[in-house]
Amino acid sequence: MTAQQQIHDLTASVPGFPKPGITFRDLTPVFADPSAFRAVTDELLAPFAGSIDAVAGVEARGFLVASAAAYAAGLGVITIRKAGKLPGRVLAHSYDLEYGTATLEIQPDGLAAGARVLLLDDVLATGGTLGASCELLEEAGCTVAGIGVVLELEGLSGRANLAGRTVHALAALP
Ligand code: PRP
Repeated sequence: MTAQQQIHDLTASVPGFPKPGITFRDLTPVFADPSAFRAVTDELLAPFAGSIDAVAGVEARGFLVASAAAYAAGLGVITIRKAGKLPGRVLAHSYDLEYGTATLEIQPDGLAAGARVLLLDDVLATGGTLGASCELLEEAGCTVAGIGVVLELEGLSGRANLAGRTVHALAALP
């Protein structure tokens, strides 16, 4: 069975979470299923195998897929974290939320200049998170080889907000 089929079969839709009017798409059962987790990991990596130097993941659920993909490819993981979690010198990038802003950070020291990075996360919604993550990786001197997500929520224009970038989504929902 393909990753796409397993994602559609296993993703839970939770009405009213985290607040009324929102239907949360919960990928937890996808990650908990051995076959689905393997298929997701393999298919996120496949388009970029052999042409990347590192895998980056966005806190928190992006760490799951990024670490698995990096291990499978024999590469290391770059962590992009919410503000205030990383010690030492960090680069920060803020982006707009529906109400307010959020900030992500990266440690630039130790990243190889020009490293080709596959950026992974679980869900693409508005694209704010992945857009900010791309900016951080590039400010740190890396090249974003592509973006991979398990699930794209198509109604939120995330792909448009990542225009010009290679975005590979394993499955999509409205
Ligand atoms: C969720 C999800 C993505 C992001 C997508 O993360 O894991 O990272 O939102 O939304 P966007 O495309 O509109 O930016 P969340 O901030 O809930 O963090 P978590 O993984 O720590 O729960």
